[in-house]
Amino acid sequence: MAKAQARVPGVEARAGKFPGPSLIPALHAIQERLGWLPREELVTLSRDVHRPLYEIEGLISFYPHFRTDPPGKVALHVCHDLSCWLQGADQRIAALRERYGEDADIELVEVSCIGRCDAAPAVAVNERPVVADEADALIDAARARQPAQPAPTPTATPSPSPATRATPATRAYGGGTPWPNDPYGAGQERYGTLRAVLSGELDPGRLIAILQDSGLRGMGGAGFPAGRKWELVAAQAARPKYAICNADESEPGTFKDRQILAEQPHLVLEGLLLGMVAVGAEEGWVFIRHEYGPEEAVIRREIEALRAAGLAGDDVAGTGRRLSIEVFTSPGGYILGEESALIECMEGHRGEPRNKPPFPGIYGLWGQPTLMNSVETFAHVPIIIQRGADWWKQQGTGGSSGLKFFAVSGHVERPGVYCVPLGSTARQLLELAGGVAGGRALGAIQPGGASSNFLGPDRLDVPLDFDALAKAGSMLGSGALVVLAEGTDLLAAATNVLRFFRDESCGKCVPCRVGSTKAHQILSDLLADGGGPGDVDGRILRLEETMRKTSICGLGQVALGPVLSVLGLPRGATAAQPHPHPAQPPEQAHGGRPAGQPGAGRAAGQENGDEA
Ligand SMILES: Cc1cc2nc3c(=O)[nH]c(=O)nc-3n(C[C@H](O)[C@H](O)[C@H](O)COP(=O)(O)O)c2cc1C
Ligand code: SF4
Ligand code: FES
Repeated sequence: MAKAQARVPGVEARAGKFPGPSLIPALHAIQERLGWLPREELVTLSRDVHRPLYEIEGLISFYPHFRTDPPGKVALHVCHDLSCWLQGADQRIAALRERYGEDADIELVEVSCIGRCDAAPAVAVNERPVVADEADALIDAARARQPAQPAPTPTATPSPSPATRATPATRAYGGGTPWPNDPYGAGQERYGTLRAVLSGELDPGRLIAILQDSGLRGMGGAGFPAGRKWELVAAQAARPKYAICNADESEPGTFKDRQILAEQPHLVLEGLLLGMVAVGAEEGWVFIRHEYGPEEAVIRREIEALRAAGLAGDDVAGTGRRLSIEVFTSPGGYILGEESALIECMEGHRGEPRNKPPFPGIYGLWGQPTLMNSVETFAHVPIIIQRGADWWKQQGTGGSSGLKFFAVSGHVERPGVYCVPLGSTARQLLELAGGVAGGRALGAIQPGGASSNFLGPDRLDVPLDFDALAKAGSMLGSGALVVLAEGTDLLAAATNVLRFFRDESCGKCVPCRVGSTKAHQILSDLLADGGGPGDVDGRILRLEETMRKTSICGLGQVALGPVLSVLGLPRGATAAQPHPHPAQPPEQAHGGRPAGQPGAGRAAGQENGDEA
């Protein structure tokens, strides 16, 4: 990869300090070989590559995957985030502690979401995801250092049933038939669109126009129009350009990209390659979280097959054109999903988001124009190009365009990944997932992953689309519907979400680092004292406002949104309207705290002159 010397806010501070290629792959290699990073290995690496040891230490202290002490025989990771918490993670963790807490061989660690929210409470043994019932057997095998058990299926959960491939209105897709966004039938030759572009049958200039007409929006959270992004990168004169598929998916409740990677690697890579052709990039990357080992293996195999077929490499399809694709394994941390943090990581720095603008399309990897889309966005591209923008638009419902993958988890009968017309309602999706578990009544939903505000049962008929959800006071976000049955303590649920953001804050900016910690402490103390929504005082509101207005990236900006939404307050991600359960009028939302404490006596919502 080439290096650029440009100076931009957030990057110039270290300009020239750590030149040279990323050391992260070298650290991965040591850890893979030895299981950890012994000091002497780091010193040797530092000498070999002529880079200061403090640069290496800076990386290791940032990335949770790297460890500087030898591992125990068994690393037992248990997720404690929302979807798992709803399925009894706390009790499961307590039981595992009881059983293995004193066991010297076993290192039990509570971790953030590992992307197996459909198998909640999710557990991984030596990084291998297992369904909870199989954990003990795998622990015993690992303890005895027996040969590894057969690898789990890439999804670690049963493949989606035909119903999960159904669009709620009309179609059903039988087992073994492709998902509705896959234009290739069983046994049919894949990469047809790419071949057509490479052979000159399809004008590459048409790709962007079709994408723009289709109305496809980014599926990674922000919903930026894909065609506009491609056009912007294509218009940049600077060379070289890069393209990155963001497969870092790490938000609690979000696992649809995992399923797409496992089942549609050909679509993800074809979309990425088409993007490279359209914008003029020669190097493409799939940046994947390290917890997705089985899916990474699938992607690597597919890349090998592409190379063998002459569709990736230095001279694709005899055109003399270079389209190289590589995989970059994330060293850990939710924040790396943020596009500029991801780029910082790939360049070999601590994965802290940059100030934006400039955006990656102009100043991305190594300071060069970089096209970055999420897994799902790329996976939709081949069918849109093949069948046309109008066809894609018709796949949506109620005025929305196209198809959408959703991960559904929490209190539902059939957690899993569902592909439905964009604009389907939460009610339809919930029905596909078998309804609320145990036939219970619905308490609330989080329609777009951890960043999205909770909505009440009265919002079940809101179309799951960008604008409709924003108008309803939440957001489509990462396409993760988390379902909470009636009777769930919503404030405790929202505090669980806040803990995730606190744990995953990169610490670069004070409001997020300190604010998330402080807010979590306040709410945890309140819950421990038996408090409820009526006891939340103005400190939370002031912290939310400060974090929303002053944090560098989306993590800090929305971290307290879910909490405020369960208080019935319109803040957070959208600063829009409603609320799941209007527990009580805003004037009462601070009750309970003794006078004299910060915020006591002030009505919630008056902190910033807001409309609450
Ligand atoms: C804290 C944070 C985490 C994010 N995590 C992801 C992620 O895991 N995957 C993803 O595609 N986008 C993620 N994003 C959004 C990316 O920054 C970026 O907008 C996206 O990759 C662009 O692709 P798209 O236009 O196809 O959505 C995250 C954003 C933030 C602020
Ligand atoms: S808002 Fe939080 S996660 Fe984002 S840059 Fe600031 S400290 Fe890091
Ligand atoms: S695996 Fe536990 S919330 Fe995702």
